[in-house]
Amino acid sequence: MIKIVIIYHSKTGNTEKIAKAIHSELEREGAILKKVDEVTVSELTDADMVVFGSPVHFKSIPIKLLSVIKKVPDRIQWKVAWFYTFSIPDPDFHAGYEKRIQKFIDEYKLELLGIFKCLGEFKEEQLVNKVLTLRLSSKQQDLGERTLTESKGHPDDSEIEQAKRFALEILRKIQFTSHKKYGQI
Ligand SMILES: Cc1cc2nc3c(=O)[nH]c(=O)nc-3n(C[C@H](O)[C@H](O)[C@H](O)COP(=O)(O)O)c2cc1C
Repeated sequence: MIKIVIIYHSKTGNTEKIAKAIHSELEREGAILKKVDEVTVSELTDADMVVFGSPVHFKSIPIKLLSVIKKVPDRIQWKVAWFYTFSIPDPDFHAGYEKRIQKFIDEYKLELLGIFKCLGEFKEEQLVNKVLTLRLSSKQQDLGERTLTESKGHPDDSEIEQAKRFALEILRKIQFTSHKKYGQI
């Protein structure tokens, strides 16, 4: 049986909804769902596939999740998939997150099976301007307002369904590659 671990960080609950949706589809395969600070070293080293998830914080991966991936042992042979939620309706505010994923994948020579992303409601209104000062352009003055209104209510039911489909897609990919490896197809 393929050993799957889903590791996520979620501060205000948006990413947790996606994590639970993905887990609901992978649970019957024995997948375990863990918050970043709950996962054990042996759960990580035993895994065949790790699905990571978090919000975007200041255009990148939050320190809590980074500290886990920095501890990944060398020569690990995982298949990896990733999910994240973000609030700012401008790709400039999450492009760096995906670059950071790619850096991790390249560093450990891992196989990335897919990335799922969706909007998440910005629930800490007092922080929105702090995040936006990363970009000092007068054109972006309305971005704070748009962030709060456009992210409201996300992830919604359709994004939860998309996350479940994503889970099934990565499962098909990992089953396909492991059958190929053992010569069953
Ligand atoms: C400190 C902080 C920094 C954030 N930085 C970004 C950012 O750079 N880009 C973005 O699109 N959203 C940013 N957000 C919004 C979160 O990524 C978004 O609300 C996410 O859905 C929260 O997920 P959670 O509920 O699982 O914590 C930030 C939120 C906080 C609180």
